Amino acid sequence: MIEKIQKLKAEISSLSIDTPDKLEAFRLKYLSKKGLISQLFFDFKHVSPEQKKEVGQLINDIKTYAYSLFESSRIRISSQKTDISKIDYTLPSYPVKLGSRHPVSLTRQEIVEIFSRVGFTVSEGPEIEDDWHVFSGLNFPEVHPARDMQDTFFIFKNPDYLLRTHTSSVQVRVMEQSKPPIRQLFPGRVFRNEAISARSHCIFHQVEGLYIDTDVSFSDLKQTLLYFSKELFGPDTRIRLRPSFFPFTEPSAEMDISCSICNGKGCNVCKYTGFLEILGCGMVDPKVLEDSHIDSDKYTGFAFGMGIERIAMLKHQINDIRYLFENDVRFLHQFI
Ligand code: PHE
Repeated sequence: MIEKIQKLKAEISSLSIDTPDKLEAFRLKYLSKKGLISQLFFDFKHVSPEQKKEVGQLINDIKTYAYSLFESSRIRISSQKTDISKIDYTLPSYPVKLGSRHPVSLTRQEIVEIFSRVGFTVSEGPEIEDDWHVFSGLNFPEVHPARDMQDTFFIFKNPDYLLRTHTSSVQVRVMEQSKPPIRQLFPGRVFRNEAISARSHCIFHQVEGLYIDTDVSFSDLKQTLLYFSKELFGPDTRIRLRPSFFPFTEPSAEMDISCSICNGKGCNVCKYTGFLEILGCGMVDPKVLEDSHIDSDKYTGFAFGMGIERIAMLKHQINDIRYLFENDVRFLHQFI
């Protein structure tokens, strides 16, 4: 046993511990629970009573020695400085990963830019809204099925407040606060209590537009939307307006564009109709103007609203809206 301890001590003192890896290897081999020093304490049980005093002393000595060697090596290694003369400055650096802009942000920016060229500016409003700005101020009667057109998330315990179901709420805020002429866009996030599927999501984004002035007519609306569609989807794009209903516009319409994939010939994207629906629009109902203290004898206006995700999906041929919310970088990196 005495010989074994002396051998171990000689082994330890011959070591050169000069890197963090060697330090850790030393700790594991000698100082850990199952290390060689602990092993000595196990063997100690079998030492004869006469030798116990001497052997005990030796074991304690080697233990103290090993721990102090560990400590001094640790301090030396941690204070070691990198030798600057050994750094190779000519090595290429690690590539910096650049992020890319989200397709919804890119599409929103593109829509805003197109309308800003014909004088539209941007306003934003709150996502948590009251009933007036989302429904009543837009001529949705108190109990009317039109409210079910957009299933709403109400705020728990306080149903006076809700998550806006469309950005038309900002239209009301702007009409209340400013005087015509008004030519503005309202981009933002909206919420609807809908099941998530490949085609719809409970959270999405809209851009709504509003133009109020004297003598604004339906033909102004049509020409503005034609200009927008050609800018966004290409100069050959045709538009089609179909009569529709919204409580806050009269007359109302839904606008289709000729399918940009098959150029109107019919394909599976447009379900062989040659057209794709992209937005709702109409002349602002005089009652809505009056409720926001705008003189409806003097002023008329048009409004339109579209889903940004839908436009992004059509532009980039994305066949599932959920890709736009999953933040998978393999998907996102395809957009610049
Ligand atoms: N707010 C309507 C919607 O969410 C869109 C719309 C805006 C329709 C403006 C007409 C005028 O579907």
